[in-house]
Amino acid sequence: MTSWENVSSWYDKIVGKEGHYYHRRVIFPNLFRLMALEEAKKPKLLDLACGQGILARCLPPNVKYVGVDISPTLIRSAKKENRSHQFIKGDVSEKLPLDQNDFTHAAVILALQNIENPLRTLKNACKHLKKGGRLFLVMNHPCFRIPRQSAWDIDRKKQIQSRRIDRYMSPLKIPIRANPAKGEKSATTYSFHHPLSDYFKWLSDAGFAVETMEEWCSDKKSTGKAAKMENRARKEFPLFIAIAAIKL
Ligand SMILES: C[S@@+](CC[C@H](N)C(=O)[O-])C[C@H]1O[C@@H](n2cnc3c(N)ncnc32)[C@H](O)[C@@H]1O
Repeated sequence: MTSWENVSSWYDKIVGKEGHYYHRRVIFPNLFRLMALEEAKKPKLLDLACGQGILARCLPPNVKYVGVDISPTLIRSAKKENRSHQFIKGDVSEKLPLDQNDFTHAAVILALQNIENPLRTLKNACKHLKKGGRLFLVMNHPCFRIPRQSAWDIDRKKQIQSRRIDRYMSPLKIPIRANPAKGEKSATTYSFHHPLSDYFKWLSDAGFAVETMEEWCSDKKSTGKAAKMENRARKEFPLFIAIAAIKL
């Protein structure tokens, strides 16, 4: 089990009331397009590893919502900001204290890579969805963003910024310092790296058929001397991957 309790106030601050820059600009607009909640008669969404419930705050009012997270502080913050939805403290890779099995949608946003047992998490999502219900995963792109094992490589002569990947196929448990300036005193979370094929296999093992996969780039723009090279690299290397799957 990997608690975010020790970094909850830091995460609460960076996400803020409206969501992180990438939540607002890249993830939610694309996610809502994929989810097509407006097409469901009675949309009901299960948000696994919901953090402080930022997704709940952005939903249309007719969507019923349950969020689950392991961090009591983030769940408290979620409840404070959003009284109309249900939030539960729990480990999403274990049996959930939830008896509803009729969700039309489920989501794991920027969180599956923080969970030690992704397969059990996907099985849980499957269990609580109704047949034909849809699951949405949004992750840091595992092919290009592997903490400590990927970085920008700059060729000044050619003016090319490329992505260097040091490891990819090996599963890795990578400590992440919330405040790198504090060194060893910084609170730590863990990121679990797996190659992309593992996620497709686990989805299938958990009872899903993959519907679609998208790769989302940053919409930021550089200015200054290196702008051309940086803007090109940003469009070549996606930050996020989204996978939509259907419960069979
Ligand atoms: C990067 S945050 C993302 C939160 C939220 N989905 C968002 O987009 O802001 C990762 C979250 O995963 C939660 N988490 C990690 N392991 C978990 C587990 N086993 N069960 C439930 N939540 C977990 C953490 O507490 C944290 O809130």
